[in-house]
Amino acid sequence: MTASPLLSIENLSVYHGQFRALTNVSITLGAGEVVSIIGANGAGKSSLLKTIVGQVDRTEGAIRFEGADLRGTHTADIVRSGVALVPEGRRLFPSLTVEENLEIGWEVGRRGDIGFDDVYRFFPVLKEKRRQLSRELSGGQQQMVAVGRALLANPKLMLCDEISLGLAPTIIKDLYQIIPTVRDRGISILVVEQDISRSLAVADRFYCLLEGRVNLSGRPADVTHDTVVKHYFGL
Ligand SMILES: Nc1ncnc2c1ncn2[C@@H]1O[C@H](COP(=O)(O)OP(=O)(O)OP(=O)(O)O)[C@@H](O)[C@H]1O
Ligand SMILES: [Mg+2]
Repeated sequence: MTASPLLSIENLSVYHGQFRALTNVSITLGAGEVVSIIGANGAGKSSLLKTIVGQVDRTEGAIRFEGADLRGTHTADIVRSGVALVPEGRRLFPSLTVEENLEIGWEVGRRGDIGFDDVYRFFPVLKEKRRQLSRELSGGQQQMVAVGRALLANPKLMLCDEISLGLAPTIIKDLYQIIPTVRDRGISILVVEQDISRSLAVADRFYCLLEGRVNLSGRPADVTHDTVVKHYFGL
């Protein structure tokens, strides 16, 4: 780990109204790292990612990206500074074409060298379907559009919220195999998943969340599957 990580979250607490979804969460992610956040339903994974991109109002603690505190910054400015979210449930515009959905990422993001051709190389099926409405695509193809849209924002840090959810294993494999390629393009990645094995297989380091708190962290190779499962379920 470098002295100043790309992303540094310190003692973050996050509230939805009166409900505290995260408590004193501290997480770092270095440039070039793939870090995964695992946790069961309701553990606070999406709350964490939404907070990073400025979509939760009530927070305590610090979220530093390249040294600057992101708290209080508008989502649009956070995206332009190099953080892109692949949101839970994809959030595409169903009546826009694949290409029009992808263009949104390009328009809101920063300028960089990832272009449409790169996305079509990562996911060749999207090139074939680029003039189709996104609602006509399969769930897996729609997820590829959501990932492509984030990549076209040319992020330094990409946040992926359960990109495998509800998809067939072969599609999940297609989606996950781009993670090392994306990292090789200099993009760091924070992967949120319920699927422990899938998530740890791509991660340099991981954090496990239970009821809004980090209860285990480390390198996947340094912990047994049993230990991870126990912490995941709070056993
Ligand atoms: N907008 C909201 N208003 C009130 N409570 C919320 C809101 N969003 C999330 N919560 C609550 O915060 C907790 C954490 O939710 P969050 O969506 O972050 O969990 P998660 O780990 O992403 O779960 P999942 O795996 O089901 O996506 C849950 O108890 C949830 O009910
Ligand atoms: Mg979630």
